[in-house]
Parts: sequence; C-alpha cells; structure tokens
Amino acid sequence: MEAMIEQAANALRKAQRVAVLTGAGASAESGVPTFRASDGLWEGHHIEDVATPDGFRRDPSLVWKFYNARRENVSRVQPNPAHIALAKLEVRFGGAFTLATQNVDGLHQAAGSINVLEVHGSLRRTRCTGCRCIEDRELEPLGELPECPRCGALLRPDIVWFHESLPERIWQEAQFAAAMCDVLLVVGTSAVVHPAASLIPIARQVHDDRPTRATVIEFNLTKTDASDYADIGLYGKAGELLPRVVERLG
Ligand code: OAD
Repeated sequence: MEAMIEQAANALRKAQRVAVLTGAGASAESGVPTFRASDGLWEGHHIEDVATPDGFRRDPSLVWKFYNARRENVSRVQPNPAHIALAKLEVRFGGAFTLATQNVDGLHQAAGSINVLEVHGSLRRTRCTGCRCIEDRELEPLGELPECPRCGALLRPDIVWFHESLPERIWQEAQFAAAMCDVLLVVGTSAVVHPAASLIPIARQVHDDRPTRATVIEFNLTKTDASDYADIGLYGKAGELLPRVVERLG
C-alpha cells in the first residue's frame, strides 16, 4: 500500500491539471448511506418509485418523504477526512483543479472545496414544476407537497433522476476537466451510472490538446467498473487513503 500511495503522490506531483469524480462512497464515512445495497433497494425503496420523473408524477408525496429524510440526514452530518483532503488538494492546484461529484449532499463545499460541479444536482435546491425557478432552500424542512413561493405550483428536488439529462453547462465543464487533466481521481463510486462514469474513459483519451492520457487513480473499498481504467488502485476507506496521499505530496 505504501508503494501505491507514493505512486499516487508522484503522479499528482507531476500533474498540472487535476480532475476528481466522487460518488456516494466519499460521503459514506460521514454517515450518508450509499445507493447500491445488496438488495438492490435505495433505503428500502425501488429506484423507479423515488428517482424517476414517472415516480414523482405517480406519488410526489412519497418522493418528497424520501428526499426530506435524506435532507434531514445530511443536516446532521459533517465532512469527513476524504472531503477535507480533496479541499486541501484544490488549494495546491487552484484553478487547475475541478471536482465533479455525483453526490447531492453539499459536503465537498462544506469541507472548503470551491470548484465543485454537481452533475446530479443538489438536495438543498428545489425546482418548480410550474415556473421552473430554482431556489436554494438549504436543508430547512419542506413538508410533503411543498409549493413554489412564487407561483404556487408543486416543487421537486433539483436532482437529476433516471431518464433525465445532466445540467448541460455543468456537464460540459466536467467533460472538459476530464479531457484536459493529467490525473483523474475516482473516489467512492461504483461507476455504473452513466453518463457520469464516462468521465473516466474520457480522461484516458488522447487528443491534440492533451497528447498524453491522464493517470487514473481509483479510491474505493473494492474493485468496480472503473478498475479496468485505473492505473493505480487504492482499495480501502477513502477517508484514510486520500489524506495519506495528500500528506505524502508535501
Ligand atoms: P454507489 O452506491 O453505486 O457506489 C458507492 C461506492 O462507494 C461503492 O463502489 C463502494 O464500494 C464505495 N465505498 C463505500 N464506502 C466507501 C469508503 N468509505 N471509501 C471508499 N469507497 C467507498 O454510489 P455512486 O457510484 O455514487 O444518482 O452512484 C452513482 C449514482 O447512482 C448516484 O449519484 C445516484 C445513484 O443513482 C442519482 O441520484 C441521479
């Protein structure tokens, strides 16, 4: 493991641009549950019931109960050492550092990360199904059928559900960061949800503006769909391994 940590630190020492893709595993040590439990349910719910536009049309109150519970859980948790290590890494690379996260919990920003691309939206924001306005409601309780304060229509979480597109500008920025980076860190994601996971093969492409592909470093408890793309695999808790790599950097 020490040798792998040194290899990862060395790749980062040589890098000019760094990109990161995080998933639920990055927040696991804060106490936010990951998605893919072995029974295939999300905290006891079928994905199509709570994370699709059809599910919301069928039963918005069930969907809001699910997201209100997640909002409440997130209001009680703190960033963990993995979030903090990534925020420190951003200080080192400044504007040449981009963190794309599939997480909707805001914990990267709470740890001090600045350039965060929330490719799956945010638990803190609501989107109106009528006038489409988006509002940051932090983690205040919202009730089971919250209404838009402007037009009175039903609000939904500003989260990307299955069968929906990613926010266009944010997704373009994430793709650009993956296409231009020298190192991509893939942290705590099963890498099965696309297009987010396609940032990993994008980092491995060569093109005129980046003749050498990026080094991909995976941090996960276990091997995943990303592992075949990884040059360096650090398997264990992200909250233990990421700080070791960042400390080793000096
Ligand atoms: P998953 O639940 O699919 O995967 C979590 C990953 O984190 C697994 O590979 C675990 O092995 C790993 N893991 C767990 N604890 C860890 C730890 N302490 N350190 C390192 N790794 C750890 O979550 P995601 O890959 O984020 O989308 O799922 C992607 C998307 O699927 C989510 O953004 C969500 C869901 O559908 C939407 O809500 C649109």
